[in-house]
Amino acid sequence: MRRELRRDKILIVARVFRTISFACLDFDKRADRTGGFRLMKTLIVYYSLEGNTDYAANKIAERLGADKLRLVPKVAYKDKGFAKFFYGGKSAIMKEVPALETYDVDLSEYDRIIFGFPVWAGNFTPPLRTFILDQRDALKGKRFSAFACQGGSGGERALSKLAGFLRIKSFDETAVFIDPKARHNSETEEAIASFCGRLGA
Ligand SMILES: Cc1cc2nc3c(=O)[nH]c(=O)nc-3n(C[C@H](O)[C@H](O)[C@H](O)COP(=O)(O)O)c2cc1C
Repeated sequence: MRRELRRDKILIVARVFRTISFACLDFDKRADRTGGFRLMKTLIVYYSLEGNTDYAANKIAERLGADKLRLVPKVAYKDKGFAKFFYGGKSAIMKEVPALETYDVDLSEYDRIIFGFPVWAGNFTPPLRTFILDQRDALKGKRFSAFACQGGSGGERALSKLAGFLRIKSFDETAVFIDPKARHNSETEEAIASFCGRLGA
C-alpha cells in the first residue's frame, strides 16, 4: 500500500514536470513563430556582390532566427576583372549613394539591425549608405551590430566608418570574416558561430 502511494506520488511529480516542460517548449515555439514574446527581433540588412556576405548573412540568420534584407542596386556593379575593382572602388571612395531596387520592409517590427557588407577600398559598400539615408528616422532607437567580409584588410576601419555614418559611438557586436564563401574553412565557421553566440544565439 505504501509502495503504491509512493509510486503514485512519483507519477504525479513526473506528469507535472512533463506538463511544465511542454508548456515552456510551446512558449518558445510560439515566441519564434510570432515574435510576440521575443526579447529581440532582428533584421540583417546587407549587400553582397560576389556571395560572401550573402553566405555569412544566411548562416547568421539561420542561427539567430533573424529576417534578411538583401540590398540590390538598380544599376548592378560590375563583378569581373578590372571594372569590378575600378567602379566599385570609385563608388566607395566617392561615397556614392546608388539608387536601390524597391524593398519591402517595416523597420518598426525590429529591435535590432545587423548590417553586413563587403569591404571596398577600406570602406563599407555604398548600398548601405543609401539604405541608412533613406531610413534615418526609422532606424532611430534600434540596437546595431555589424559584420564585414574582406579579402585582406580594412574591415575594422570600415566598421567604424559605418558606425560614424549611423551616428553611433560603437556597435553592440562586430565581426570580420575573410571571404567566408570563397575561402570556406572551419576558422570562418567558428568566427560566424562566435559572432552569433555574442548576439545571443
Ligand atoms: C571594389 C572592391 C574593393 C575591395 N576592397 C577591399 C579592401 O579594401 N580590403 C579587402 O580586404 N578586400 C577588399 N575587397 C574584397 C572583398 O571585400 C571581399 O572579397 C569580400 O569577401 C567580398 O564580399 P561579397 O562576395 O559579398 O561581395 C574588395 C573587392 C571589391 C570588388
